[in-house]
Amino acid sequence: MRTGTGSQTKFVLEESQLPRHWYNVCSDMPTALQPVLHPGTGQPVGPDDLAPLFPMELIGQEVSEEAEIAIPEEILEIYSLWRPTPLYRALRLEAAIGTRSRIFYKYEGVSPPGSHKPNTAVAQAFYNKKEGRTRLSTETGAGQWGSALSFACKLIGLECKVYMVRVSYEQKPARRSMIKAWGAEIVPSPSEQTQSGRAILAEHPDSPGSLGIAISEAVEDAAGRDDTAYSLGSVLNHVLLHQTVIGQEALAQMELAGAFPDVIVGCVGGGSNFAGLAFPFLREKIAGREIDVLACEPAACPTLTRGLFAYDFGDTSKLTPLVPMHTLGHDFVPAPIHAGGLRYHGVAPLISQLVRDGLIRAEAYTQNAVFASAVLFAGSEGILPAPEAAHAIHGTLQVAKAADEAGEERTILFNLSGHGHFDMAAYDTYFAGKLEDVALDEGSMERALRAIEGLPTPA
Ligand SMILES: Cc1ncc(COP(=O)(O)O)c(C=O)c1O
Repeated sequence: MRTGTGSQTKFVLEESQLPRHWYNVCSDMPTALQPVLHPGTGQPVGPDDLAPLFPMELIGQEVSEEAEIAIPEEILEIYSLWRPTPLYRALRLEAAIGTRSRIFYKYEGVSPPGSHKPNTAVAQAFYNKKEGRTRLSTETGAGQWGSALSFACKLIGLECKVYMVRVSYEQKPARRSMIKAWGAEIVPSPSEQTQSGRAILAEHPDSPGSLGIAISEAVEDAAGRDDTAYSLGSVLNHVLLHQTVIGQEALAQMELAGAFPDVIVGCVGGGSNFAGLAFPFLREKIAGREIDVLACEPAACPTLTRGLFAYDFGDTSKLTPLVPMHTLGHDFVPAPIHAGGLRYHGVAPLISQLVRDGLIRAEAYTQNAVFASAVLFAGSEGILPAPEAAHAIHGTLQVAKAADEAGEERTILFNLSGHGHFDMAAYDTYFAGKLEDVALDEGSMERALRAIEGLPTPA
C-alpha cells in the first residue's frame, strides 16, 4: 500500500476550496507598469479610449492596484465544471530521467476546451454580457483560445466570431469543428472580411497569418459594431489576473504535498498561463522567499530572450494602443512552428516588467528538442501535452538536469497548460523526422525590429 505524501501522485482540492478572488500582482510589483499610450497623441490611454472595445468592469481590472479582486458567483459556478484542477507529482517522469529533484505539475488540460484559456474566457464573456454586449470577436492561434471563448460564449449566451491564424486553421481542422460545435463562427486569418485582412492578402496572398494579424481583424470587427466587444486571450493585465486561480490552487496543493517549489516553470506566448501559475508564487518571492521563475519560449519567436523592451502595437495593422513590452516588432510573422499559441511578437507588459526587474528569467528552445521532451513525458506520465505546454516540460527537464549535474536537488513546479489531442498532426510530423528547427536569425530580427523605429521609448 502507498502511504505518506512521499509517494502520493495527485493532490486535489474540494470544490469548496476554489479561490474566491483573483490575485493582482500590480499591488506587489517593485516597479510600476509604464502607461499604455494612445498612438495618435502619445498620451496615456484612458477608460474612454478603451470603452468601444471592452466592458467597463474589465477596464477597471486592467488598471486596478487592489491586491485581490472578488470572483463573481456566476463565474465560480462555471469554473466548478472543471476547477479546482489537479496537481500531480511526476513520479514516473522523475524515475524515467533518474533525477534527484522532485517534479510537480499543475494540469489545466482538464477544462472542457482542454487548456487554461477558459479561466479568462468565462470571466470576459460574463462581464460583457452583464454590460449589454451580445457578440464577441477574437483571434486564435492554435485554436485553444478560440475554443475557450466559444465555449464560454455558449454557456453565457453570446455570439462569437473567431479569426483563426491560417496556418493553424489548416493544421488543426478538428479545433475548427470544436469551435463550431460551441456555436461560434470561424474564418481563417488573414481573411477577406476585414480591411486589415484584405490589405495583407493583397501584399502576401500566401500569408500563413500570425496572431498579430488575427488580432487586427478581430479588433476591426469589434470597433465597427456596437453590439460587439473584442476579447483577447492573453497579454492584457486583466487576462493574466483571471489566470491566477491556477497559482492560488497550486499554493494550497503544494502545501498538501508538504513541499514548496524552488523553481516555477511555464511556457510563454502572450504570457497568461505562465502568469497564472507564477504570480501567486512571485508574491512570495517579492516578500523574500527564494524562487527561480523560468519562462520558456520558442527559438523561432524569442520575444523575451532576444526582443527589445519597447513601446509597440499589439497587432500588425496598428489598431491597438502602444504597449510597453518585450517585442520582435508588430509586423514580425514567426515561422509556422507547431506551437501556434506561442507565435506572438510581443508578451504581456506585466511579465516584461518583471523580467526587467530580474524576478523572472527566460530561455528559448527549438521544436525537435521540445517534442522529444513531450514524448518522454507522455511515455511516463501518460498525458499528451499541447506543443505549447511541452516547452514548459522541456524547461523543467533542463532545470532537473542542471541540478543533477551540480549534485543538487530541486523542487520544480511547472504548468501543463493544455493537452495535445488536437495537435496529433504536429506529433506525426515530428515522428516522420520532418519537423524543422527554426531559430530566428539576426538579419530577420533586425528587419522586424525596424517596425518600431520612431515609436515612443519607455523610461
Ligand atoms: C495550451 C496552451 N498553452 C499556452 C499557450 C500560450 O498562451 P499564454 O502565453 O497566454 O498562456 C497557448 C495559447 O494558445 C495554449 O493553447
